[in-house]
Amino acid sequence: DAEKEGYPHFMLKEIHEQPRALRSTLHGLMSDAMMGEAAEMLADADTVFVTGAGTSYHASEYFALISMRLAERPVIAFIASEYGSYVNAAGPRDVLVAVSQSGETMDTLKALRAFKKRGSRVISLTNAVDSAIARESDVAVYTRAGPEIGVAATKTFLTQTLALTWLAVETATRIGSLRGGEEMELLKELESTPKHVEESISTTSELVKKLAERIAGSKSMYYLSRGVGLPVAREGALKIKEIAYVHAEAYPAGESKHGPIALVEPSFPVVFTIPNDAELQRMLLGNIEEMRARGGVIVGVLPRGSELRERVDLAIEVPRAHWIATALTHTPPLQLLAYHVASLKGLDPDKPRNLAKTVTVE
Ligand code: G6P
Repeated sequence: DAEKEGYPHFMLKEIHEQPRALRSTLHGLMSDAMMGEAAEMLADADTVFVTGAGTSYHASEYFALISMRLAERPVIAFIASEYGSYVNAAGPRDVLVAVSQSGETMDTLKALRAFKKRGSRVISLTNAVDSAIARESDVAVYTRAGPEIGVAATKTFLTQTLALTWLAVETATRIGSLRGGEEMELLKELESTPKHVEESISTTSELVKKLAERIAGSKSMYYLSRGVGLPVAREGALKIKEIAYVHAEAYPAGESKHGPIALVEPSFPVVFTIPNDAELQRMLLGNIEEMRARGGVIVGVLPRGSELRERVDLAIEVPRAHWIATALTHTPPLQLLAYHVASLKGLDPDKPRNLAKTVTVE
C-alpha cells in the first residue's frame, strides 16, 4: 500500500505519474546520443518498419502516421505476431523499429530476430535497460517511465509516443522535409507535453467520472477517429476492454459507415478522439452527425475551444496543443474512463483476468 502513495490502485497512481515520467523521458532523449544515431539510421533507410504488441503496437502505429506526415516517406506498422507476413519484404537497407515496454515480449523479440536474419538493422525502444529486445538491437533507445506495476500500460504508452514523435521529428529534419524553423517549433511542442498532460488529467477527471457512471452499464462501445487520432482510439478501446471488460471496438471513423454503424442505436456510446487539426475535424464532423442521427451517446475528446464541442453530447476538452501531441493530450481521459468504469463495476484494475504484464510465449 505504501508504494501506491495514497492512490487506491497502481493504475491510477501511474496515470497521475505521467507528467513526471514524460519529464524524465525528455531529459533522457535530449542527453542520449543514441537518439541521433537512430534518426540517422532511419533517414538513411530504404523502408522503415515498426512493430510492437498491445499498447506498444498502438505507439508503433502512431509513429508510422506521424513519420509519414513529417518525413513524407512510407513507414510500415505491423502487429508483432504478424511479422511473418512482412519479413520477406525486408532486406539489409531496411530498418525495423521494435517497441516494447518490457523489452521481453516474445512476439516482438521473434519479429526482431527474423528481421535481423534478413540483414535489416533494428532500433529498439524499451523501458527496461538490458532487456532482451534492447540487447539484441543495433541501437537501443529508452523511455524513462520508471517501473509500471499495473497490468494495463499507461505511462509507458505516453512516454513511448513522446520518444517516437521526437524520433520522427529528428528523422524528418535529417531528410530535409520540414519547413525552416519547424524542427525547433515541433521539439518545443514536445517539451511542453508534461505540462499539457498534467492539465489534461486535472481538468478532465471529474467529467470523466460522471461519464463513467453514465456508461458503466453498456455492454459495447465504439472508439472512432481519423489520422493520428486512430491509434489513440485503439488505445482507449483496449484499456476499457482490458480492465473494465466492456466490449469496445476502435475504427477509422470514415470506415464506420461500412458496417459498424449497424450496431448503433439509442444510448450506444461512441467516443470520438478529435485531434487539433482542421482537416481531420472537418471530416470527423460528418461521422459525428451519422452516429448522432442513430441516437448514439456521442462523446468527443477534443482540443479546448473546438467548434465540434457543440456537436457532441459530452465534450471532454483537453489542452489545445499541436496535432503531433494528440496521443499525449487525448489519452489520459480515455485511461481514466476505463479506470472509473472498472472501479464502478467493483473490478481490480491492477489485476485484470486472463492478462499478464509481460507475455514471454508466442
Ligand atoms: C501484454 C500487456 C500489455 C502490453 C503488451 C506488450 O499484453 O498486458 O499491456 O501492451 O503485453 O508489452 P510490451 O512490454 O512489449 O510493451
